Amino acid sequence: MHNLKHPFMLLLLLSLSSFASSWNQNQQFQQAKNFEGSSDLVDLQYHMGPVLGAPISLYIIWYGHWDQNHQATIRDFIYSLSSSAPHPSVADWWRTIRLYTDQTGSNITGDLNLSGEFFDWRYSHGGYLSRLSMQSIIRTATTSRPRPLPLNPQNGLYLVLTSADVQVQDFCRAVCGFHYFTFPTIVGGTVPYAWIGYSGTQCPGMCAYPFAWPQYSGRPPPSTNGGNNIMRAPNGDAGVDGMISVIAHELAEVSSNPLVNAWYAGDDPTSPTEIADLCLGVYGTGGGGGYVGKVYKDSGGDGYNLNGVKGRRFLVQWIWNPTKRRCYGPNAMD
Ligand SMILES: *[C@@H]1O[C@H](CO)[C@@H](O)[C@H](O)[C@H]1NC(C)=O
Ligand SMILES: *[C@@H]1O[C@H](CO)[C@@H](O)[C@H](O)[C@H]1NC(C)=O
Repeated sequence: MHNLKHPFMLLLLLSLSSFASSWNQNQQFQQAKNFEGSSDLVDLQYHMGPVLGAPISLYIIWYGHWDQNHQATIRDFIYSLSSSAPHPSVADWWRTIRLYTDQTGSNITGDLNLSGEFFDWRYSHGGYLSRLSMQSIIRTATTSRPRPLPLNPQNGLYLVLTSADVQVQDFCRAVCGFHYFTFPTIVGGTVPYAWIGYSGTQCPGMCAYPFAWPQYSGRPPPSTNGGNNIMRAPNGDAGVDGMISVIAHELAEVSSNPLVNAWYAGDDPTSPTEIADLCLGVYGTGGGGGYVGKVYKDSGGDGYNLNGVKGRRFLVQWIWNPTKRRCYGPNAMD
């Protein structure tokens, strides 16, 4: 969370200071700095806490009413994280995240298994959710009969995904997703989790960039080749294709900073700039400042930068590479 020029946004983010990784893709329109080539400005540090080094059991909680095609796209993205696909693949992209280690020298794992799903189609905590209510949703999912998700403090990671009609505190104003960890008093244990909302109807211009653009900007983001034509979503839905990059962003950050005491930049642990925040809006070589960078475009105009399982394609933002000291992804041209 850096370069927040808008005073209202700054206030909002400060007031939410106990939550990690509040962010807003709109920032890229305001961003003056392109970190792709400017490593001196970045002060990423390790703060001695754990990273997710053991194989991760991922649990998805589908909150609300979900389209099955959207669910299939998201599942295939998750499967792609640890499966092979033609280069540049989603698993190649995850290799940048694996470069981060903890104080014992353990790298972040490359092994992410989708180990369970829970369908909260009854909207157990209503249609307007506070940030804290994500923990109650996890509690519900891990205690509901007859088939609860396991509460897995050893290697569990929980994704709460809210459907189009669910409103979440600060969603579409300050955040598209966030990650944190649960409190034992609410959930019965400490597990890392992330929430990401489906933005397709509420705010695609903010959270599904660059497949949609903010109305105030008056024009699409400059796409690859400098054209002003809008990029089409590779899996057919701007909301879900935009959500994929936000899920990727949160998975990168929760893995490298699960208890908010490991990898982040800045002096303030209550408002950390994490390894994906540093590369917001950068998807290819030359990206930054509202330009997505060099990505691929197929004959139908679909934009993508990574290959996944079953011939799927995804557009996913880059991550800060600690060795190269710049934002990086496997579709880099240099
Ligand atoms: C683990 O991290 C170190 C330090 O970044 C890196 O040199 C090494 O290649 C990483 N190992 C894997 C398997 O990614
Ligand atoms: C991966 O998840 C599946 C359920 O989706 C489970 O049956 C399997 O045991 C898991 N594998 C590992 C290695 O955790």
